[in-house]
Amino acid sequence: MILSIESSCDDSSLAITDIKTNKLIYHKKISQEIQHSFYGGVVPELAARLHVEALPKILEECKEYFPSLKAIAVTNAPGLSVTLTEGVTMAKALSISLNLPLIAVNHLKGHIYSLFIEKNEVLPMTVLLVSGGHTQIIEANSLYDMKVIASTMDDSFGESFDKVSKMLGLGYPGGPIVQEYGLKGDENRFELPIPLSQSSKIEFSYSGLKNAVRMQIEKLENQEGGIKEQNKYDLCASFQKTAVLHIMQKLKKLFKQKTPKNFAIVGGASANIYLRSQLEELCKKSNTNLYLSELKYCADNAAMIGRVAVEQYKQNDFIRIKDIDVQSRIK
Ligand code: KG4
Ligand code: ZN
Repeated sequence: MILSIESSCDDSSLAITDIKTNKLIYHKKISQEIQHSFYGGVVPELAARLHVEALPKILEECKEYFPSLKAIAVTNAPGLSVTLTEGVTMAKALSISLNLPLIAVNHLKGHIYSLFIEKNEVLPMTVLLVSGGHTQIIEANSLYDMKVIASTMDDSFGESFDKVSKMLGLGYPGGPIVQEYGLKGDENRFELPIPLSQSSKIEFSYSGLKNAVRMQIEKLENQEGGIKEQNKYDLCASFQKTAVLHIMQKLKKLFKQKTPKNFAIVGGASANIYLRSQLEELCKKSNTNLYLSELKYCADNAAMIGRVAVEQYKQNDFIRIKDIDVQSRIK
C-alpha cells in the first residue's frame, strides 16, 4: 500500500491505496473552506497553520496501516509553497522513520488521475483541467507524456467564479455558490462579452469577463443603492453562461481541428453542472467518449495523488529526500 498526502492549497488529505488493485483502503479530507470564507479567498499563512493541525490528526487515524506501507507519496507541485511544505515535511519524516521510499507527485497529474481512482487507466485522452489555479487543455498520452496545448492568459475558470462571488459578497469558494445562485436567475438578462471570441487561437482569458461583471455590479449599485437578490441571481446565471460559452467556443475549434476519441474534464471546477451538460452535448455530437471524475473526487484530494503514486511506484519513480522540493509553478 501507498500512503499519499495532499496539501497544495486549502484541503488537508491523506489516502492509502492498494498497489495491486488500485483500491482505496482509506481516504480522509479536512477542508478549510469555512475558515477562508471570512476572507473571500485562501489566505496562505492561515492555510499552512491549519494543515499543521489537520495533517497529523488524520495521520493518527490511519496508523494501523503503517506496517503494510511500501512507499510515501506527496504532492510537491504546483500549489502554494507554504502549504505544500507542510505535506512534504510530513512525507519526509514518515519516509525516514518508516524507512520507506518517497514519491513526488504533480498535483495536475493527480487531477487527471482522479478519473482512474479505483479504476484502470484510460489513456491517451484530451483533458480539460479547470480548477482554482488552472485552465488548461492537455494531451495526455501517458503519465510521462503529457503536453499542455492551451492555457489561460490570466485568471483561471474557477478563480473567476471565486472573484465574482467575492464581488457580490457571496463567500468562498465561489464556484458552487455562483452555480446555485445561477439556478434561480435568467442567464440572458445581462449581456456579457464572450472572451477572445474573435481570436482563432485556442487559449483562454477570464480577466475581461470579470471586469465586465464588476462594471455591471457598479452600475446596479449606482441605480439601486445596493444589489437586489434577483439581480444577483441573474448576474450569476449570465456570468456562468458566458464563462462556459468561452470554453465551449474554444473546444469546438479544437474538435474541428481533430476530434478526440476520448475527452475528459477534471479539476475542482469540473463539478460545474452547466459545463458538464454542454460538454456532454458536444461529445455526443462528435462521437467522443466523455470521462468525468466522480463529484467527490473533482476537488483536491489525496486519493488522486495516491492513484498517480501507484503508477510511479510501478516505474520505480522515487525521489531522494534531499532532492524533493516544493514548486509553486511548474516551469
Ligand atoms: O481543484 P480545486 O479543488 O483546487 C485547485 O487546485 O485550485 O478547485 C477549486 C476551484 C475553486 O476556484 C472553486 O470555486 C471551483 O474550483 N469550483 C467551481 C465549482 N465547484 C468548485 N467552479 C465552478 N462551478 C462549480 N460548481
Ligand atoms: Zn487542484
